[in-house]
Amino acid sequence: MHYPSLFTPLQIGPYHLSHRVAMAPLTRMRADTSSLAARALNAEYYAQRATQGGLIIAEASQVTPTGRGNPDTPGIYSRAQVAGWKQVTDAVHAKGGIIFLQLWHVGRASHSSYQPDGVLPVSASAIAISGKTRTASGDIAPYEVPRALRTDEIPGIIEAYRQGARNALEAGFDGIEIHGANGYLLEQFLQSRSNLRIDRYGGSIENRARLLLEVVDAAIEVWGADRVAVRLSPYGVANDSGEADPMPLYSHVIGQLAPRGLAYLHFVEPRSSGAGRSEVNHTDVPAAFELFRPLWPGVLITAGGFDGASAEAAIASGNVDAIAFGRTFIANPDLPERIRKNAMLTPYDRATFYGGDVAGYTDYPFQEAE
Ligand code: FNR
Repeated sequence: MHYPSLFTPLQIGPYHLSHRVAMAPLTRMRADTSSLAARALNAEYYAQRATQGGLIIAEASQVTPTGRGNPDTPGIYSRAQVAGWKQVTDAVHAKGGIIFLQLWHVGRASHSSYQPDGVLPVSASAIAISGKTRTASGDIAPYEVPRALRTDEIPGIIEAYRQGARNALEAGFDGIEIHGANGYLLEQFLQSRSNLRIDRYGGSIENRARLLLEVVDAAIEVWGADRVAVRLSPYGVANDSGEADPMPLYSHVIGQLAPRGLAYLHFVEPRSSGAGRSEVNHTDVPAAFELFRPLWPGVLITAGGFDGASAEAAIASGNVDAIAFGRTFIANPDLPERIRKNAMLTPYDRATFYGGDVAGYTDYPFQEAE
């Protein structure tokens, strides 16, 4: 059997990708501070990284004000935010790019200083993330014990995702990715160490998976399944997550998602947690894409510490269909072209990942014109 390469075209839902080098969703904390809307600078950044038929997954965007846990992360719940994102999608489409928006609720990975009226953040259960976070005023403080959502509040959470999905459609995105990874709200419900609920959203694997699946179904009602994607991190440890035995939980989740006919499933590989404020490279961890490939009949994307050579090898193995690049895409706006030519990559500067302006955002160089 002849397996494809990174530069073999790929169909996702109704879209024809001309290559398999995707841009991973990357929180950059550069939205407009008061409206939390994307601005012209964000449009320039995404347009720099757009290629004809290339997939961009835009950064995690909170579907409701209570879903935010960091400064200047964009939202997708207000009219101004829809207008802000429209400039981004227009700029990416002008370059022939395809852009999905990642829908986000951070749950307990927030702090009361980010919450409307300064209330406690919400989660599946009243269990705090261990360790510290940066508050809205810039101080370092312990994570707070979140307030467990009441069962009768859960429809409101699903409605927030549904409205976020509608807004993303209106903002001109090509699809949406539900953020079910990295220890945020949906993963807080999935995993037993953050979910001690005794209602139909807690306890058994079926119950813990229910909120994610109901959110996915709400998104499908808005978009159709072939323009909805899901991101999972089965072996991740971000934000104090980590299921003791991920296989039964994630086999169930992926088994439930499979017949829905989604655009793609997207993993964060555990070996490299690129987010956060320091480099963490885990060793002796499984490859999620290899383990779960047999359960997933559709398009599979993965991310985590890939370079051109390892991405090519993963695609050639037939175990994954596209590779999303995070950190190297930050520093190399023309990454697909550089990989194709095996050209040198510009190193990234972690100090400018989160917040700030042009520096470390839109000022990374393109390859010299030949
Ligand atoms: C991330 N990551 C991330 N993941 C996600 O699902 N939504 C997000 O908004 C973000 N934000 C984010 C910001 C920054 C600055 C980094 C470095 C990472 C994780 C990212 O999508 C990717 O999975 C990891 O970075 C691993 O890929 P690389 O960087 O090793 O190619």
